[in-house]
Amino acid sequence: MGRVLLDRVRKVYGSGAKAFEAVKDFSLQIADGEFVVLVGGSGCGKSTTLRMIAGLEDITDGEIRIGERIVNDLHPKDRDIAMVFQNYALYPHMNVYRNLAFPLTMRGVDKATIDKRVREASRILALDPLLDRRPAELSGGQRQRVAVGRAIVREPSVFLFDEPLSNLDAKLRVTTRAELKALHQRLKTTTVYVTHDQEEAMTLGDRIVVMAGGVIQQAGTPLEVYRRPANKFVAGFIGLPPMNMLDGEIEGDGATACFVIREQGVRVQMSGYGGAKGPSTMGIRPQSLRVVDGEVSGGAGLRVRVRVVEPLGSEMDIHADLIGGASPLVARVAARDDVRAGDEVRMVLENDGLHVFAPGEFGATLWSGTRQG
Ligand SMILES: Nc1ncnc2c1ncn2[C@@H]1O[C@H](COP(=O)(O)OP(=O)(O)O)[C@@H](O)[C@H]1O
Ligand SMILES: [Mg+2]
Repeated sequence: MGRVLLDRVRKVYGSGAKAFEAVKDFSLQIADGEFVVLVGGSGCGKSTTLRMIAGLEDITDGEIRIGERIVNDLHPKDRDIAMVFQNYALYPHMNVYRNLAFPLTMRGVDKATIDKRVREASRILALDPLLDRRPAELSGGQRQRVAVGRAIVREPSVFLFDEPLSNLDAKLRVTTRAELKALHQRLKTTTVYVTHDQEEAMTLGDRIVVMAGGVIQQAGTPLEVYRRPANKFVAGFIGLPPMNMLDGEIEGDGATACFVIREQGVRVQMSGYGGAKGPSTMGIRPQSLRVVDGEVSGGAGLRVRVRVVEPLGSEMDIHADLIGGASPLVARVAARDDVRAGDEVRMVLENDGLHVFAPGEFGATLWSGTRQG
């Protein structure tokens, strides 16, 4: 069983005046066979969390279980895990076969079993033609596959990955990402994967865990987190381009509740909202903005001046500024060639991807919904 439980785990580096709490009260249940991605900015505590699961860092407080066992005091080699790092080091003087066999040789596994497992891993990762080569004779992507192969041969109950694709170029990162996902679908080994890249997290994870400041901000399926972000931080972190944030005020109640965007005074109905009023922030997905031609009935929509247009092929990003205000805005719309830098255009909000947040960087989501009327 490759279940992993973290119960109120804490990590404090150093002591006294130099003490630093890198991971705070971290609780998470990872099911057997699940692929969980820890995602967040640099320094948010992802690697520390992973290294505590691996046993490479002591935990300050709390409990970690792998399978049925409490592993707090268990040596890394006794935890039945295999870890792949960003800077995986292959042995330069050994060929691929011996690099793959090494973790098993170290453990005194018999030759026949080693050969069987190396052949199996090699077949899964399409390394057969490369078994006689040395690392220097491999491409970056091939070296990466060998590093994964060294984890596979161990047949652990949990895989731990720390930014394993960061050293690959963009194209290779995308193909290797797909290979890792296919590998998981095939082996169904419980996996905890760390990345700072929200797109990598979304594409790989059964579940993603968004972290900031050593704290879990939200855990959920990629779509749950995208559609129902728990707070302003998660909303801004997940999704590309990042969500637009406009300050304003919540006014009225129930049927009349609305958000008034401070710049331009545009009113957006917040159907069903009955919570606190006052200053807050509206989040608008770039995909929820649409360019309209001519006047809009009732004066709805935002007037913006286009700063830059970025063609992406079938779509494009319009970077603009609110007229009479200061806020920048990004809209991702279907490609068209009649919108240019310097143009003044009107944008309306689509009926989806709108959220209102309490003040502050981590302000809770007060309302998520569809715009009425
Ligand atoms: N050995 C250490 N001693 C002191 N502080 C550390 C140590 N390792 C990491 N940290 C600090 O803990 C925080 C989390 O680090 P880390 O888990 O590596 O972040 P991430 O992997 O999310 O980028 C950072 O502020 C980092 O500087
Ligand atoms: Mg890290």
